[in-house]
Amino acid sequence: MQINIPRGTQDILPGEVEKWQYIEKKLKEICDRFQYNEIRTPIFEHTELFLRSVGDTTDIVQKEMYTFEDRGERSLTLRPEGTASVVRSFVENKMHGYASQPIKLYYLGPMFRYERPQAGRFRQFVQFGVEAIGSNDPAIDAEVMALAYTVYESMGLSKLKLVVNSLGDKESRTAHRDALIGHFKPSIGEFCRDCQNRLEKNPMRILDCKKDREHPLMKTAPSILEYLNEDSRQYFEKVQKYLTALNIPFVVDSNLVRGLDYYKHTAFEIMSEAEGFGAITTLCGGGRYDGLTEDIGGPAAPGIGFAMSIERLLASLKAENIELPLDKQVDVYLVSLGEEAKDYTVGLLNTLRKAGLSAERDYLNRKIKAQFKAADRIHAKYVAVLGEDELQNNKINVKSLETGEQKEIEIAKLVDALKDFAAF
Ligand code: HAM
Repeated sequence: MQINIPRGTQDILPGEVEKWQYIEKKLKEICDRFQYNEIRTPIFEHTELFLRSVGDTTDIVQKEMYTFEDRGERSLTLRPEGTASVVRSFVENKMHGYASQPIKLYYLGPMFRYERPQAGRFRQFVQFGVEAIGSNDPAIDAEVMALAYTVYESMGLSKLKLVVNSLGDKESRTAHRDALIGHFKPSIGEFCRDCQNRLEKNPMRILDCKKDREHPLMKTAPSILEYLNEDSRQYFEKVQKYLTALNIPFVVDSNLVRGLDYYKHTAFEIMSEAEGFGAITTLCGGGRYDGLTEDIGGPAAPGIGFAMSIERLLASLKAENIELPLDKQVDVYLVSLGEEAKDYTVGLLNTLRKAGLSAERDYLNRKIKAQFKAADRIHAKYVAVLGEDELQNNKINVKSLETGEQKEIEIAKLVDALKDFAAF
């Protein structure tokens, strides 16, 4: 029986993988400009890390984690997101003591969530994310959002919508929490079991429930913005002021609740407004998570970040009909005629590659016409044709597939000729 790929995962094949490589390169360039450094953390972590950070009342923790016991009977989990790992690493490596502050990091790698697969939703997906830890300047909130926005804009996307909200500090959250309990409690019997469990533990999660989304009480629920204390309100105002200074359009939406528990103050998402993007329009999400370092046993350090999946970025490119400028070209294809010339191209190919050129030859014993076709198919810039006669005279015939121009040159000068065809 044939074995197929697991549900919600995908193979990224040649032809498609070039887009990923282009995006990865671009992301690194942007991070460099914004001065974020790469961090690589393990694919799995102790399960406890996600319980304490993402939150044990969230869908991610309750329903979506790939958790297993290893042979030493430890409970481990394939990371569903990157923030918890980065913050764990920050604490473990005592990065708060580093000379250069704040610590600005980025990551790129696979994450795993047992979700119902659909367009834009995978069980293994690749997240690019950044985390800035050690500053509670609202300007860094704006910087993080600007970075995310720059990523999309640099790819040519324009149908973007940045939505921001403030979830306030602890005091504001407590006041809002009490108001939410008062709002939902009398009718909690009409809500799903998850929501019933969340009422006392974490009523804000009710606002994020997928099942009860249409319940009338959802629309009339007390807004967090009405419960912000003075500090939180001022913080949020500054964030908005800085976004305006950065020329980034945004809308405030007090209903924006993120699916993870660690957020305080700023929360944001960038949506695609492209037609035909599909039901899930969120391209990226993030926010501030002051207090998270302490939750996992470290010293206090404020932080903010976001993550986006490459899968959804690609989907938005498709929805906006954007072709990435991929230039996949091969410098030269060696065409040979006759046994001796064919043998000779083995060494010649090696010489070209050692000189830094991308080069290919025929491995299927094809006729000359088919060899030209093969060269065309891989977008070779030049073909170099070697027959018995040329070989005897130490010559080779080089043809530009772009202009059709041909030149016969000495084999020893082939590398130079390919690097500067016009000079020959
Ligand atoms: P999140 O909202 O859970 O936040 O995920 C962030 C992004 O990951 C989403 O906006 C989406 O692009 C992508 N994503 C999530 N689930 C899937 C899926 N099943 N398939 C494809 N893409 C998906 C976080 O993960 C936070 N760690 C973000 C953050 C960083 N907050 C602060 N720092």
